[in-house]
Amino acid sequence: MRTILVGSDHAGFELKNVLKDVLTARGLQVIDVGCDSETSCDYPLFAQDVARRLTSGEASMGVLVCGTGIGMSISANRFRGIRAALCTSEFHARMSRAHNDANVLVLGGRVTGSGLAKAILEAWLDTPFEGDRHKRRVDQIDAM
Ligand code: RB5
Repeated sequence: MRTILVGSDHAGFELKNVLKDVLTARGLQVIDVGCDSETSCDYPLFAQDVARRLTSGEASMGVLVCGTGIGMSISANRFRGIRAALCTSEFHARMSRAHNDANVLVLGGRVTGSGLAKAILEAWLDTPFEGDRHKRRVDQIDAM
């Protein structure tokens, strides 16, 4: 069974729960690193937890949600090997997989409604990396 890591802060908590239902309905095993309520908390800690677990091989993909998605993106992308993509459309989601081999999907709970967020997640999960010239570019990123 494929495992996927999820994390959020308080502003992404509600949307994270919606997305967890989508993931489990698809037969994925979900590891939720927190947070566990809408009590104010610090997004970098959850981004870091997902990034570290991903790079240690606990899972191959992750989903992070904060209010805008920006703080989670900035934080997760500090980690070598993490390619976190903040997506606000299905097109972003497909391209982030096909061209960038994004291994973390980031969403903004205060930006993207649950219906669109679910469609973004489905598109992201369903799109394979195209490799070829895109692999060369991703390798350049990972070498930085
Ligand atoms: C929390 O208020 C908010 O700053 C956070 O969820 C996120 O949007 C940061 O980028």
